[in-house]
Amino acid sequence: MAKLPILEFPDERLRTKAAPVETVDDEVRQLVDDMLETMYDARGIGLAATQIDVHRRVVVMDVSDDNSQPLVLINPRYTPIGDEKELLSEGCLSIPEHYAEVPRYLKVQLNALDRNGETYELEAEGLLAHCIQHEYDHLEGVLFVDYLSPLKRDRIRKKMQKRHKQMQDA
Ligand code: NI
Repeated sequence: MAKLPILEFPDERLRTKAAPVETVDDEVRQLVDDMLETMYDARGIGLAATQIDVHRRVVVMDVSDDNSQPLVLINPRYTPIGDEKELLSEGCLSIPEHYAEVPRYLKVQLNALDRNGETYELEAEGLLAHCIQHEYDHLEGVLFVDYLSPLKRDRIRKKMQKRHKQMQDA
């Protein structure tokens, strides 16, 4: 397995819309394994392939406390169950050290393929439901900062640009 570099906001490559996976083959399974390793190493609870500059519809997640429940979502789709939304504070491995409350559907029904290419369905709520919606957004080129006011988004963009300049100068 290999750990992969994660793109950071405002990198324009994060705005790419990902293409569906046609066949879940060994190459896709390798991608999944690399993404899980990258996510766990970065102490994240979700990672979309978009974030490692691979523009295919692949997501990994683990919202457990002890990294014991890896979840693989290939070509995921979700539908809201009811129209209730809730605010939860979200972070993103592509926007480190920034958090903001984002409204998401409280409950969703997920449909996806697993690591073996088998279809599965899942009803999710709370943190898992938020995570599914957040990661799905990545595949569409959408980031949580897009839900914030332009002023807040600009403030985060400037801080991130400063961070990248410091990293370059170091
Ligand atoms: Ni994210």
